[in-house]
Amino acid sequence: MKDTEQNAQRLLNGSVRRSYDSAVDIDWDAPLEEGKYFLPPHLSTLYETPLWHELTPAQRVELSRHELANLLSVGHWFENVLNQALLRMIFEADPTARHTHYALTEIGDECRHMLMFGRLMEKIGAPYFRQPKAQLAITRKLPGRLRGLNLWVGALIGEEIFDVWQRRIMDDPGMQPAVRRMMRIHVVEEARHIQWAREGVARRMRYASWWEKESLGRMVGFGGQFFNDQLMHRRLYARAGLDPDEAYRQAAANPHFRQVKQEGFDKLRRFFDEQGIFRGKARERWRQAGFIA
Ligand SMILES: [Fe+2]
Ligand SMILES: [Fe+2]
Repeated sequence: MKDTEQNAQRLLNGSVRRSYDSAVDIDWDAPLEEGKYFLPPHLSTLYETPLWHELTPAQRVELSRHELANLLSVGHWFENVLNQALLRMIFEADPTARHTHYALTEIGDECRHMLMFGRLMEKIGAPYFRQPKAQLAITRKLPGRLRGLNLWVGALIGEEIFDVWQRRIMDDPGMQPAVRRMMRIHVVEEARHIQWAREGVARRMRYASWWEKESLGRMVGFGGQFFNDQLMHRRLYARAGLDPDEAYRQAAANPHFRQVKQEGFDKLRRFFDEQGIFRGKARERWRQAGFIA
């Protein structure tokens, strides 16, 4: 069996051993717990800012509710894009190949995740965030462009940074139990996706053309700012009842949150360095966006 087939078989075995269905694996009927956070304070974009210190505990919890809805909204469109790209990838593939079987398994995981994100937003009573029009113009075209290296690197940017944060959320006893449970389910299933995408990057880097590596390596530089724009924006703060301009200004300048971003990106940044992903100004752009010290 080829390496790709062996890797896919291993991931398929893992999927059979450990997969979840949020319809039965999350207790949707349990009421929310008064005073518990929806995201840990130390992961808030405003944590430790002057504005944060002016907020009452109830306002901080309210901010965390909208920050969670924001992350879930991003996760929802991102996994949709990824699934479209994966379906295209296997359109002409051999239906008996393990690689095809694992792609379909991952697509199934992501379908259940999107459903879980939507149910959780409903449960916490926070409306989802629509993508702004300018962003939609880009994300609508993404599925057609995520091929080869673009697909694997794109998947890792969407999955591995959140993964670091999700692991911190699932272990935090101050969090709403439904949120912790959701994070645990997501972490388990995403671990396989991340492994697959990392293997995809390593394999593709061995035979990609100079042009494929160069164009991806430069494009990837814009990922940091794009990612940052997902995490902090004025609509988010307005919903939480804060002055949107002032909150955005403080979040953008917040050294604590910069640290959170660097912790989130550190493992993936090391992998990208090992693989020689960054080209041109790409690394510098991620530093400017706050993800590299
Ligand atoms: Fe997912
Ligand atoms: Fe995933």
